[in-house]
Amino acid sequence: FSWESPSNIALVKYWGKNSDQTPKNPSISFTLSDCKTTTSVIFKRIDKNSKVVDFDLIFEGKKNVSFRPKIENFFSKIQVYCPYLLDYQLTISSTNSFPHSSGIASSASSMSALSLCIMSFEKNLTSIDNDFFFKKASFISRIGSGSACRSIYGGVNFWGNHQEIKNSSDLYSVELQQDISPKFNNYRDVILLIDEKEKEVSSSVGHELMNNNPFSKVRFAIANDNIINLMRILKSGDLIDFCELVESEALMLHSLMMSSNPSYILMKPETLTVIKRIQDFRKKTDIPVCFTLDAGANVHVLFPDKFSSEVMAFIKKHLSSLCKKGKFISDSIGLGPKQI
Ligand code: PMV
Repeated sequence: FSWESPSNIALVKYWGKNSDQTPKNPSISFTLSDCKTTTSVIFKRIDKNSKVVDFDLIFEGKKNVSFRPKIENFFSKIQVYCPYLLDYQLTISSTNSFPHSSGIASSASSMSALSLCIMSFEKNLTSIDNDFFFKKASFISRIGSGSACRSIYGGVNFWGNHQEIKNSSDLYSVELQQDISPKFNNYRDVILLIDEKEKEVSSSVGHELMNNNPFSKVRFAIANDNIINLMRILKSGDLIDFCELVESEALMLHSLMMSSNPSYILMKPETLTVIKRIQDFRKKTDIPVCFTLDAGANVHVLFPDKFSSEVMAFIKKHLSSLCKKGKFISDSIGLGPKQI
C-alpha cells in the first residue's frame, strides 16, 4: 500500500502534551500540498509468534537506522490498536520532498503516510467505512507525532477538545469545512530554508520542558482564546487580524522555548531579519503577508494567492539572500493525502 501525505503548518500552535500524547491545548493548521512524504509498505505474513512488530526501513532508497527507534516506539504503542501487525513482516520505504528535521514537520507527513498505509492494510482485512478509516489514521498518527494527526485531511484542521467545535477530540483531528472564508482558498506558504541542519532540541524535549515552564498555564489559556479568535477570523476573512494572530502565536512558541529551563533558541539571526522585513513590507504595502515558525529557524511566509506576484518578487529580492544557498520551497494549502 502506498500513500503520499503532506506536512502541515500550525496557525495556533500545539506546544505541551500529556503522557498519553494528548495536547495541553487545541491547535489549528493548514495542510500543505508539496511538502510531503511518500511511503509504501509491503506486508508479508510470518508464522513466528512475535511480541514486537517486525519491520525493515528504507529511507530515500537506503536502509535507515537513525529513524528506527522512533518507528519501533511507534509500533510498540499502536500494536494494541492494530494487533494484526504482529503477524506480518513490514518493509517500509519512504521518500521526502523536503529536508527532514529542519523545522518543516517531516514527522507529520511521515507518520501520517505510514498510518494511512497501515489503515489501508486494515481495510483489506476487515470492512471499515471511510469515516472510521480516516479517524483511526489520525488517531494512530497522533501516537507517532502529535502534529501528524492534522495531516490526514486537507484544508484547515483542528485537533483538541473544544466545546465550540462539534466532534473535536484530543485523540484525532477534524477538518474544519464550514465557516472558512473563500479568502483562504489556495492560501500560499513559502518556506524559507534558513537552516537545513537537524534541530538542536527536538520537539519531544520541547514539549517535555513545558511541564515546568513558568508561563505554561498562561500559555494554555491564551491558546484557547486564540482558537476562538482564529475561528472568528477564518469565518470573517479579516486578513490583517489573521496576520497579527498568526505572528503572535509563532513568537509565543519561541518565547516558550527561551523561557524553558534549560532555555534554548532555535531562531537564527537571519530568522529575525526576515521577520522584520516581512512586517515592514506588510506595513508599507498593506498586502496581508505574514510569517509563522515551527520548532526551527525556517520561516513560513503566508499570503493569499492573489498577491503572489508582488510577494514572490519581494521574497526573491529581499529574503532569499538570507536563506541557505538562497533556497526556499513554494507551497500552498492542499487537499490532503492521496493513495497512490
Ligand atoms: O508533532 P510534534 O510533537 O513534532 O510537535 C510539533 C509542534 C509544533 O510543530 C511546534 C507546533 C504544531 O502545532 O505543529
